[in-house]
Amino acid sequence: MCACDGYAHFMLKEICEQPEAFRQTLQGRIEEGKVIFKELNWTKELVGQWNKIYIVACGTAYHSGLIGKPMLEEFLGIPVMVEIASEFQCRDPLVDKKTLAVFVSQSGETSDTLGALRVAKNKGATILSIINAEGSTIAREADYNIYLGAGPEIAVASTKAYTTMQIMQYLLSIYLAQVKGTIPAQKSEDILTALMQLPEKAQQIIDRKEAYTAIPEIKNAEDVFFVGRLMDYFIALEGALKLKETSYIHAEGWGAGEIKHGTLAIVTEETPVIAIAIQKIIYEKTLNLVKELVAKGIFVLAVVEEDDTEMEKWASKVFYIPQIENIVSPVLAVIPLQLMAYYTAVARGNNVDQPRNLTKAVIGE
Ligand code: BG6
Repeated sequence: MCACDGYAHFMLKEICEQPEAFRQTLQGRIEEGKVIFKELNWTKELVGQWNKIYIVACGTAYHSGLIGKPMLEEFLGIPVMVEIASEFQCRDPLVDKKTLAVFVSQSGETSDTLGALRVAKNKGATILSIINAEGSTIAREADYNIYLGAGPEIAVASTKAYTTMQIMQYLLSIYLAQVKGTIPAQKSEDILTALMQLPEKAQQIIDRKEAYTAIPEIKNAEDVFFVGRLMDYFIALEGALKLKETSYIHAEGWGAGEIKHGTLAIVTEETPVIAIAIQKIIYEKTLNLVKELVAKGIFVLAVVEEDDTEMEKWASKVFYIPQIENIVSPVLAVIPLQLMAYYTAVARGNNVDQPRNLTKAVIGE
């Protein structure tokens, strides 16, 4: 038993700390329907000068940027590019004084992200960091910093930092749109109300964490595919990364539409599929793919909202999450996948907190 407050591992402890981490991330951020960032204090004039936004990061932090992009674009009406830091720093990105460059990092020390930051800074961009570790190198070199407040994250596989990074990007989107005056009051109120429900709804998932335990079909598999569309696709990418980095099972995340254009050739009865079907506007499309896969004798685990009565008629197994405003549901949808990855890794006898070949922050490259 490790020194992690009675939990078997830091990863499980950090998964279970998410409800409280959400409260810390949200604390003091919403006043009378307005999002508050005292550490930014940006004016309409300053925000108005940015004609594009880059979100740059590595690993799980990069996946959080994919979730931040749609809302930023919807509410600000400017292009948002999400980039892998190790690639961004090696090319000549279209960055200038009219660019807001956002660097996301749990540790604040990842060399690729730091290198990318310096590239953007040299090109005159405004540098904002979204960080968990206060006083880190990235925080010192950025123009502005927003701290997650998620508390220390020890396990190499990032969990609570990922979900709080999502929440912080939702808050940032609404903050920028409120400063710019481009979001209807009702829309921001609906999303802020939903964000405040996240701690309690996450606790409901945590309270029944054993329901998301290791599944033989997944635990004994050599290859697993995760699928989804839109935000569900981004959760599929993170779900696959969690399973890969902890259980050492080869896992890939794919768009539920795109998988048909090649990769489906290697999806067989030997390769279970995990389908995330939360986003309402594309639910039917993902359900149709599930029907197709099951008809081929493929084991399908689906993740859906608790009021769903259709998916259980088709999928081999179903994970349910509490219902919430669709746009913030990715924060909840990933938690069963974090738990499943954790329990699968434990069942396979792996060093869950310190997986082989990985480190909490890749420094000095
Ligand atoms: C890897 C970690 O080394 O770096 C991942 O194993 C993490 O969990 C990635 O997502 C990026 O780290 P950071 O600290 O910049 O968010």
